Amino acid sequence: MEKNFKRTMVTAALPYANGGIHIGHLAGVYVPADIYVRYLRLKHQDVCFVCGTDEHGVPVTIRARKENCTPRDVVDKYYGLIKKSFEDFGIEFDYFGRTTSDTQRDTASHFFKTIYEKGGFVEQESEQYYDEEAKTFLADRYIVGECPHCHNQGAYGDQCEKCGSALSPTELINPHSTVSGSKPVLRKTKHWYLPLDQHQPWLEKWILEDHKEWRSNVYGQCKSWLDTGLKPRAVSRDLDWGIPVPVAEAEGKVLYVWFDAPIGYISNTRDLHPTDWEKWWKDPETRLIHFIGKDNIVFHCIVFPAMLKAMGDYILPDNVPANEFLNLEDDKISTSKNWAVWLHEYNADFPGKQDVLRYVLTANAPETKDNNFTWKDFQARNNNELVAVYGNFVNRALVLTQKYYDGIVPALGELTDYDRQTISEFRDVKARVESLLDKFHFRDAQKEAMDLARIGNKYLAESEPWKVVKTDPERVKTILHLSLQLVANLSIAFEPFLPFSSRRLREMLNLTAFSWEDLGRTDLLGEGHQLGQAALLFEKIEDSVVEAQVQKLLDTKKANEAAEAHPAPVGEPCSIDDFARLDIRVGTVLACEKVAKSNKLLQFKIDDGLGGRTILSGIAQHYQPEDLVGKQVCFIANLPARKMMGIESQGMILSAVAPDGSLKVTTVEQPVKPGSQVQ
Ligand code: MF3
Ligand code: ZN
Repeated sequence: MEKNFKRTMVTAALPYANGGIHIGHLAGVYVPADIYVRYLRLKHQDVCFVCGTDEHGVPVTIRARKENCTPRDVVDKYYGLIKKSFEDFGIEFDYFGRTTSDTQRDTASHFFKTIYEKGGFVEQESEQYYDEEAKTFLADRYIVGECPHCHNQGAYGDQCEKCGSALSPTELINPHSTVSGSKPVLRKTKHWYLPLDQHQPWLEKWILEDHKEWRSNVYGQCKSWLDTGLKPRAVSRDLDWGIPVPVAEAEGKVLYVWFDAPIGYISNTRDLHPTDWEKWWKDPETRLIHFIGKDNIVFHCIVFPAMLKAMGDYILPDNVPANEFLNLEDDKISTSKNWAVWLHEYNADFPGKQDVLRYVLTANAPETKDNNFTWKDFQARNNNELVAVYGNFVNRALVLTQKYYDGIVPALGELTDYDRQTISEFRDVKARVESLLDKFHFRDAQKEAMDLARIGNKYLAESEPWKVVKTDPERVKTILHLSLQLVANLSIAFEPFLPFSSRRLREMLNLTAFSWEDLGRTDLLGEGHQLGQAALLFEKIEDSVVEAQVQKLLDTKKANEAAEAHPAPVGEPCSIDDFARLDIRVGTVLACEKVAKSNKLLQFKIDDGLGGRTILSGIAQHYQPEDLVGKQVCFIANLPARKMMGIESQGMILSAVAPDGSLKVTTVEQPVKPGSQVQ
């Protein structure tokens, strides 16, 4: 049963403000959401598109502890970074807020109080680990101990990362707190629970019967949760980072981040539309769509709807087009291992190439199963599809029109059967793209747009205007007239997917007014219309460019492996006297050059305060010699001289071995007089 809606409220999952955005987030959530919203806007539909950062919760506090700063510092930093990287990439939210806003505190508190007063929560006491030294209850992630399954000593209270088992903190053998290192004790604490078991009956009907059209991965996950039987879920936590639970008896407790975060969608809408936000969330004629990744399904299809239902006057999502995961070069994307392509780095490394990544991520969208991103495929799709098909067709049509008609659209003459056949091939592209986009099949929809370019490419190749011009110049007018109509169609069809290129293409066509409704028409550019300046729409990506990106990943992998390897054990004991026999000094590098025929050795001329000396050091692979000149380095001054490659080395420069195996020379924190002793 198709319902007619007046407007569409679109949300994209709020990213945690504890790291950047990577291609997995983009492919799973933000690119499809942006395509969908651009499409609705093109059709002049009333749409509101909100996102923002998810700034509470344990991940942020852990990051803060690691970086030795406050949670507030962490979220401020990542809010700025994430917002800017989305803007640079052309993800056009109507509003990008944060869950630490005043509006959010107000809205989330209102949610809690309303449900609380209606008796929509159950209160329950449980025993949780408490750190007596730090005087704080411990989130599961803050407790480490031995895994009861594989006996890994570093298992977390919620999961053992070695064997993958889900754990609860009380299962850990020998637990200790990572906050103070002390042994935690169990303490009674009270929390409020959303009784999902009580919501089960209506949820079953609403999802399993009324939303059979949801994607099978989403429907399937919901069904398995429902089949297992829903259990009450705590909506409060003993933490000091979050929105305080707004009732008197809840001293020291905050709202659980998953209760807080989805309400952020509403607060962000309120901040955008302070006076009429309610129509976006409470009017049954509004269609609510959540774009999320698969790890968020239960929260958006079960928990958040239960909260909205408990409030009484909110609408429920009409669809939740969740994607599966994107892997990177065949490995799972991992923030902690830095196995990712970060959006802010892509933006910096590939300026002006937003559409290339958008294209590749949509072409490989993990809509029905996990998918894989490789730099080779990125290059191939750019070179073989964007450049060779789309760009090539556009360029040939524009350049030929420039050459034969000074960039003025020629008249349409008599049509041949082949012309008619070509026109009929792209006339119903609008209906095809729409029906796919309406069903959230972004990958196939983009393929339709690309097929349009293929039709054009084939049409030009087979009509050969560059040959026909010699025998039948009138005919060439028709060929180019039709080709240009196809080019204009491409700028519209690709607008939701590749907005930067579509805009540039319209500039080249000098096409100012256009609308989605025009798609499929063959009279978009009238005879006599003056085109703009032709330029290349896409450029080839060279091997060296993608090789550099692959190398960056390999370096990451190497560094990870080195970091995982155990640090070298401490060596044999040595006496103070042993140490005192070493004469370690600071010298200034006067000159430094590669030793001929050696790929390891650098030759140093050192000012040692004693008239100068020569030292050889095996660090040529880690430094450019000129970068070391002027630096002060520590060296051992009383070693016997040694000849290498025919040169006498009078000492040894000290270097640290970094986790990736590279060497870093040791230096002093402040300049000192050459020859100063190190003790
Ligand atoms: N921050 C969550 C994540 O990255 C997503 C939150 S979505 C919201 O998995 F609905 F809670 F906002
Ligand atoms: Zn384990």
